[in-house]
Amino acid sequence: MGEVTQPDTRQREIRLGDIRLRNRLVTSSSLLGYGVADPGLVPYGMSPISRFVPLHRFGAVTTRTLTVAPRDGHFTNRTDWPLRHLPDLLRRYARVLRPTDSGWINAFGWCNVGIEAYLRDYYPRTRDQNTIISLGGFSPEEFVALVDAVNATVPAGDIAAVEFNVSCPNVEHDFEPILDGVLADAVGRSHHPVILKLAPDRDYVAHARRAAAAGVSALTAINTVRALRLDPDTGQPWLTNRYGGLSGGAVKPIGLRVVSELRESGVTMPIIATGGIRSFDDCREYFWAGADAVSLGSATWLASYPGYAVAPLRGLQIRALQRRIERYQPPPAPSRGGTRSAPLRGYVP
Ligand SMILES: Cc1cc2nc3c(=O)[nH]c(=O)nc-3n(C[C@H](O)[C@H](O)[C@H](O)COP(=O)(O)O)c2cc1C
Repeated sequence: MGEVTQPDTRQREIRLGDIRLRNRLVTSSSLLGYGVADPGLVPYGMSPISRFVPLHRFGAVTTRTLTVAPRDGHFTNRTDWPLRHLPDLLRRYARVLRPTDSGWINAFGWCNVGIEAYLRDYYPRTRDQNTIISLGGFSPEEFVALVDAVNATVPAGDIAAVEFNVSCPNVEHDFEPILDGVLADAVGRSHHPVILKLAPDRDYVAHARRAAAAGVSALTAINTVRALRLDPDTGQPWLTNRYGGLSGGAVKPIGLRVVSELRESGVTMPIIATGGIRSFDDCREYFWAGADAVSLGSATWLASYPGYAVAPLRGLQIRALQRRIERYQPPPAPSRGGTRSAPLRGYVP
């Protein structure tokens, strides 16, 4: 591993309760993979856009959701694709990810290398970034195992937080029955602040209240919206998993609704907003709705294949957004989230 230079980001650092962010612009789970390309000759596993953006300038980079064991999900973990197999790889992509209706629908199904490989092969190469490690499990025991693995390798203070993903709409698992067990068993055990990621399709206000009572430090709102597309001629679903998660511009009004309703219902925890954010005005809208930080998701990765030709331009736009958010002061807490919102607890500008 080469020597790591620590960028001087302390002056702009902000705190959401006990979570330290370099600024208020983070990235959403998965869109920048594990924060670095796969080891090996071919730089596979990172968006072309990411090559033109300094990742250490984000408030934090959130990893792909990691599970106890490696998973192919509905896709594949294979990374050694020779050029002649490219058509096969693109066909596989089309069964898990498609542009649709001003957004994207995806069902990767928690395809990931597993927590052990992440901590061994990727995390050490991302130490110049601030990281949020996304964890996903199907039981309280799995969340405990994931938290223990992170505790054992990552010293307290080395990452911003761990984020519990109990809201994925495309792994075909009902998280409602495990939520209380996960919160009770895994939150207090973590050496790192815990963020709970909320689903727009579930009772997010109740989940936020339960999270606050369990000692969760912040909320991420929203995960993708459960969605479906069918071939109009055959009725066949576009995606292998039939259902997927909708992201991008199409979900921005839904994300804004969720953030605003959380505030209106008296939720005072810090909120990291994600859902269709591309521009500075998108960020400002979310801050008015009650968010404390904003998160770029689809905008950091998804484009049409010809669209990747302008990846350097997209990179420049994201750099400009980083600079503007670094300088930006959100409106004061009481004026956000409508007249019924309560002041933010643990909010230190
Ligand atoms: C291709 C893709 C993969 C995603 N994978 C994950 C994931 O593994 N874990 C997770 O918590 N969210 C995942 N998400 C959801 C995003 O982190 C984000 O919450 C959502 O896309 C909304 O933001 P956006 O509209 O800016 O993309 C994924 C989204 C996309 C588009």
